[in-house]
Amino acid sequence: MIKVLFVCLGNICRSPLAEGLFLKHIKENNLESQISCDSAGTAGYHIGELADPRTRKNAESHGVKLIHKARQFSTKDFENFDYILLMDDSNLNNVEYLKKDNVKSKIFKMRFFDHDFKDHDVPDPYYLGEEGFENVYNILDRSTLNFLEFLRKEHSL
Ligand code: 4NP
Repeated sequence: MIKVLFVCLGNICRSPLAEGLFLKHIKENNLESQISCDSAGTAGYHIGELADPRTRKNAESHGVKLIHKARQFSTKDFENFDYILLMDDSNLNNVEYLKKDNVKSKIFKMRFFDHDFKDHDVPDPYYLGEEGFENVYNILDRSTLNFLEFLRKEHSL
């Protein structure tokens, strides 16, 4: 089983949506027995909460139901996940800081898989309006699909 973890700051906007969209792509490609996913936040502000109501409303408008409850990233996650995908440079710095030299998880920024925007962050929509949430939805929909294509090639799935 290939295990993938999506990480943002609060685990209530970007990473639970990335998890929900990636799961949708996994199911549509009949890869549920080969790939699993989860999400976490570097901060603990929202532990136990469902995704932000604005994220859930936007996702539901596209037919995606989010049931994940927020949890905080921990160093155990390096042992449990093969791939860790970060939403922005701040998440990357926070996770890299916790990483020991022998860690085997492969770490990428999410938009490394968003072809024309490899160096870009997934913008934090928390202080933005509806358009911000829709923009994040579109970015994550195509980035998670491209990431799935990458895994299929990498692991001959
Ligand atoms: P996320 O967005 O990292 O995409 O879940 C945020 C959620 C909450 C906060 C910041 C960003 N916050 O400051 O509570």
